[in-house]
Amino acid sequence: MKFNPLLLILLFLELTSSSSAAPLPNDAAALLHFKSKADLRNQLNFSPKSSSAFCKWKGVECSDSRVIRLIVEDVKLGGVFAPNSLSQLAELRVLSLQNNSLTGPIPDLSGLVNLKALFLNRNYFSGAVPPSLSALHRLKTVDLSYNMLAGSIPASLNGLDRLYYLRLDFNRLNGSVPPLNQSSLQIFNVSHNDLTGAIPVTPALSRFNSSSFSLNSGLCGEIINKECRSERPFFGSQANVTAAPPNSQAAVLGQTAKLDGAGGVMRRHKRAALAIGVTIGACIFAISVICVGIAARRRWRRAAGKGEMAKIGLEPSVTGNEEAVMRIEEENDELAEKVKRAQEVKQQQQMLVGKSGSLMFCAGEAAVYTLDQLMRASAELLGRGTMGTTYKAVLDSRLIVTVKRLEAARFAAAKQEVFEGHMGAAGGLRHPNLVALRAYFQAKEERLLIYDYHANGSLFSLIHGTKSGKAKPLHWTSCLKIAEDTAQGLCYIHQAWRLVHGNLKSSNVLLGSDFEACLTDYCLMAVATPAPDEDADSLACKAPETLRASHGEATSKSDVYSFGVLLLELLSGRPPSQHPNLAPDEMMRWLRSVRGEEGGESRLEMLLEVALACSVASPEQRPTMWQVLKMIQEIKEMILMEDSEFNPNPN
Ligand SMILES: *[C@@H]1O[C@H](CO)[C@@H](O)[C@H](O)[C@H]1NC(C)=O
Ligand SMILES: *[C@@H]1O[C@H](CO)[C@@H](O)[C@H](O)[C@H]1NC(C)=O
Ligand SMILES: *[C@@H]1O[C@H](CO)[C@@H](O)[C@H](O)[C@H]1NC(C)=O
Ligand SMILES: *[C@@H]1O[C@H](CO)[C@@H](O)[C@H](O)[C@H]1NC(C)=O
Ligand SMILES: *[C@@H]1O[C@H](CO)[C@@H](O)[C@H](O)[C@H]1NC(C)=O
Ligand SMILES: *[C@@H]1O[C@H](CO)[C@@H](O)[C@H](O)[C@H]1NC(C)=O
Repeated sequence: MKFNPLLLILLFLELTSSSSAAPLPNDAAALLHFKSKADLRNQLNFSPKSSSAFCKWKGVECSDSRVIRLIVEDVKLGGVFAPNSLSQLAELRVLSLQNNSLTGPIPDLSGLVNLKALFLNRNYFSGAVPPSLSALHRLKTVDLSYNMLAGSIPASLNGLDRLYYLRLDFNRLNGSVPPLNQSSLQIFNVSHNDLTGAIPVTPALSRFNSSSFSLNSGLCGEIINKECRSERPFFGSQANVTAAPPNSQAAVLGQTAKLDGAGGVMRRHKRAALAIGVTIGACIFAISVICVGIAARRRWRRAAGKGEMAKIGLEPSVTGNEEAVMRIEEENDELAEKVKRAQEVKQQQQMLVGKSGSLMFCAGEAAVYTLDQLMRASAELLGRGTMGTTYKAVLDSRLIVTVKRLEAARFAAAKQEVFEGHMGAAGGLRHPNLVALRAYFQAKEERLLIYDYHANGSLFSLIHGTKSGKAKPLHWTSCLKIAEDTAQGLCYIHQAWRLVHGNLKSSNVLLGSDFEACLTDYCLMAVATPAPDEDADSLACKAPETLRASHGEATSKSDVYSFGVLLLELLSGRPPSQHPNLAPDEMMRWLRSVRGEEGGESRLEMLLEVALACSVASPEQRPTMWQVLKMIQEIKEMILMEDSEFNPNPN
C-alpha cells in the first residue's frame, strides 16, 4: 500500500493522542455496508464471515477494536459512497479513498467527529462539497481534488480552525473564494474550477500565489495580480443586478487603457527611473510609518492626559457633547433591555427560522460569543453619528469589539432579508485595509453590527487632532501611505462583490495596529435612507450627483469623489467644508499656503492632481478606483526612484 508522507505524520499524531472509547461491533457493519455499495467489482476482502476480525481487513486499522484508519487507495473501487456507511465510524481519524472510481455525491460525513484527514481525491464524485465537513472540527487535511464537484465552496469551512491542507483543484466549483482566514492553512489549491470574483485578501489566502488559483478565468484581485472588471452594476442597484454580464476580456482590457490627465503627468516624470530604489524606498516608507505612529501617539498621549480616552471615536463631528467621555451604563442597560424585548418579539413571530435571537457571524467564521455574552460586556460610548451609535465592548473573554447600533429610523425601510443579504455580502469582505465586519444582529427595531476594534483612532483625529486647536498637516509620505491604503481598501470593495462604500470620510478611516488605514462603515448606505441633517463636512465629502435628488444613490464613482475630498483633507489638513473651489494652479497655491513651506513641491503637486481628478463634478470623467490606485502607486514608485538617484549609494 502506498502511503502519503502526510498520512505518516498524521499516524504519528494519532499514536500520541489516546483514544478511550468502548469497543463496539457496529464498525464491521458500517464497513460491510460501505463495501456493498462502493465495491461492485469486489476488490475488498471485507466479508460477514470474518467480521469478528474486521480490524485485519485490507486497509483497516484499529485501536481498541474501533476503526481509526481506513485507507483504500488505487484499487479501482467502483460504485457509490453510501450515506450512513462509513460515517458511522465515530473513531475514524483518517479516511482515504483516493484514486478510485467512486461516483455520485459525497454523503453527509457529520458522524465522523474525530476525523483529521480526508482524501477523496481522484474519483468521480459529483454534487456539492459536503457542508457537513464544516462540523468536523478536528479536520486538518481535506483533499477533494480531481472530482466533478459543483456548486460553491462553503464559507463555513472557515470555521475549521485547524485546517492545514485544502485541495479542491480540478473540479467544477463556481461562486467566489470564501475569505478563509485560518492561520493554520499551509497548502491550498482551487485551480481549475469555475470560480469568479475578487479573491479576498486575508492573511491566510495572501500566503498563496497564482499557482493555487490558476485556470479559473473569472478570478481576479491583488493576490493573483489581475484587475477585476470594476464597472459592473454595483450592489444595491436592484434593477441591473441580475443582468450582470459575465466577465468579458474586452472590458478588462478597456479598464487598463491609458489614463489621461494625472496619469500622463506621472509618465513624463517617470522616464528616467530605474529599478534600484526598492530598498531605499522600503526604508523611507518604514520611516514614514514610524513618523505617523509617533505623531499619533503624541496626540493620544496628550488626549489621554486630559481624560479624553474615548474621544478617538467615530464621526466625532456629529457628536453633540463629544468632550464628555464616560462609561454609559444606563445606555448599555437600556440597549440590553431593548434587544431582549425585540428578541422575544422575534422569537414569537419566528421571523428568521432557525436563527432567532442569535448573532449572525459573517464569512463562515465560528461563533466566538453569543448575543447574551455580548450584552453582558462592559461598554463604552465611542461616538454618535448619523448612522448610529458606536460602542467599545469588552467581553468576559477579554475580547474587545466595536458594536455599532444602527439608527432605527434610517434603516427601518430595509426589509430583514434585504438587510441580511447586504450584511452577508459586506461581512464577506476581508482585506487588510478594511475593518472586518464579524457579525450582525437584527430583531424588530434593533440592528447591531459587530466589527473588529481598532484602538488607534480615526484618520479624522490624526489629521485634526483631538482638540479643535491648530493641527499640522501630515508629512507627504504619510499622506501617500494613507492614500494608498485607503485606495486599496476601496478598490477591493468595488471589485470584490461590486459593492460601494457610500460613506467615505476621514472619521470612517480607522488606524490599524501598524497605523495602516482601515475603512469602516462601508456598504451601509445601500440599505439606509438619507440622513436628514448632515453636517457641512460630511456633505462636502459627498459627490454632487448623490445630493442632487434627495435619493441619489451612491456609486463606485461617488466613492471616487469622496476619495478625492479625503486626499485633499490629508494634504491640506483642513476639514472638507473649508476646501476652496479653485482652478488647479490656485489650488496649489492654497495648498502651499496652508501647509507652510516644505520641500517636495512636485510630489505634492502630483498628489493634488490625483485629488482633483477624483473630485471632478461629472461622474463619467472621474477615474475608477483601480486607476486611482495605479496613479498613487506610480507616484510612489517614481519618488522612490528619484530619491535613489539623489542618493546612489545608500549604504
Ligand atoms: C491511480 O491508480 C492507478 C492504479 O489503479 C495507478 O496506476 C496510478 O498511478 C494512480 N494514480 C495516482 C495519481 O496515484
Ligand atoms: C453554480 O452552479 C450551479 C449549478 O451547478 C448553479 O445553480 C449556480 O447558480 C451557480 N452559481 C454561481 C454563483 O454561478
Ligand atoms: C484573520 O483572523 C485573525 C485571527 O485569527 C484576525 O486577527 C484577523 O483580523 C483576521 N483578518 C482578517 C482580514 O479578517
Ligand atoms: C508559488 O509558490 C510556490 C510555493 O508555494 C512556488 O514553488 C512557486 O514557484 C510559486 N509560483 C509563482 C508563479 O510564483
Ligand atoms: C495547484 O493545482 C494545480 C493543478 O492540480 C497544479 O498544477 C499546481 O501546481 C498546484 N499549485 C499548488 C501551489 O499546489
Ligand atoms: C440596465 O442596463 C442596461 C444596459 O445594460 C441599461 O440600458 C439600462 O438603462 C439599465 N437600467 C437601469 C435601471 O440602470
